[in-house]
Amino acid sequence: MTGTLPTIPLHYTEQGNGSPLVLLHGFPLNNLIWAETVRTLSDHYRVITPDLRGSGSSPFTDRSMYHMETLAEDVLALLDKLGIEKASIMGHSMGGYVTLALWRLAPERFLSMGLVSTHAWADTDEGRKGREALAEKVFMNGSKEAADAMMPKMFAPETPSDESFIESVRAMMVATNPISVVGMLRGMAARPDSSSLLPDITVPVAVLHGDHDALIPFHRAETMAAAMPDAVLFTIEQAEHMPMLEQPQATAAAIRHFLSKALPDTRT
Ligand code: MLT
Repeated sequence: MTGTLPTIPLHYTEQGNGSPLVLLHGFPLNNLIWAETVRTLSDHYRVITPDLRGSGSSPFTDRSMYHMETLAEDVLALLDKLGIEKASIMGHSMGGYVTLALWRLAPERFLSMGLVSTHAWADTDEGRKGREALAEKVFMNGSKEAADAMMPKMFAPETPSDESFIESVRAMMVATNPISVVGMLRGMAARPDSSSLLPDITVPVAVLHGDHDALIPFHRAETMAAAMPDAVLFTIEQAEHMPMLEQPQATAAAIRHFLSKALPDTRT
């Protein structure tokens, strides 16, 4: 399946030289979540962080559904524009769904893959109903509804987290255009199951997951890593759904370690 909308030019940041590393953000966030990872890894990698369609500073399109393939095709168009034939492509949560859609569309563009706080399965019927109910609320009352629904699942009250980044995550969610939030919710609900793809993902894969992720349970990361021929599972300790913010050094160190093994010619 391909997306149903023409591609749009994405806003992105680019820092560093070396093997290209593309980092995709989750829902309903933007590329700022990766700021610390970019700062750390751009010493040896060309790190590119797009804002997906309708997120951050990228344009939105006024359609009711953003298929994961549509979001993936925008990223492919960005790679084309930047003259990048192959890259390491890593996605957080919804960005992981987009990464798997990218693999479906263009596996030849991957040097390696990263699946961060994400999973490969389609929504259950109950999950789809929940997304549609939230889409209706966002449509009526704005993106604050999405923030109110997501934040308690992302940061469990019993796990102490730094208040400043919790506030910054909430601010990113509230700032995301409600039309895009609805489009992404409906696109996620419609995404196909990708678990049958896993045995065919032949490039090296890093699966990174917070040990306290309440939104996507850790066992999903374990099952996913075990199903791929060349995957390594990195447990980010003392982290929930946002390891790049909660444990930025451990997250960047895991990615650096993975890339140095997966792409030995980039070892430093
Ligand atoms: C995300 O963090 O991108 C989303 O929570 C993923 C999802 O809702 O399935």
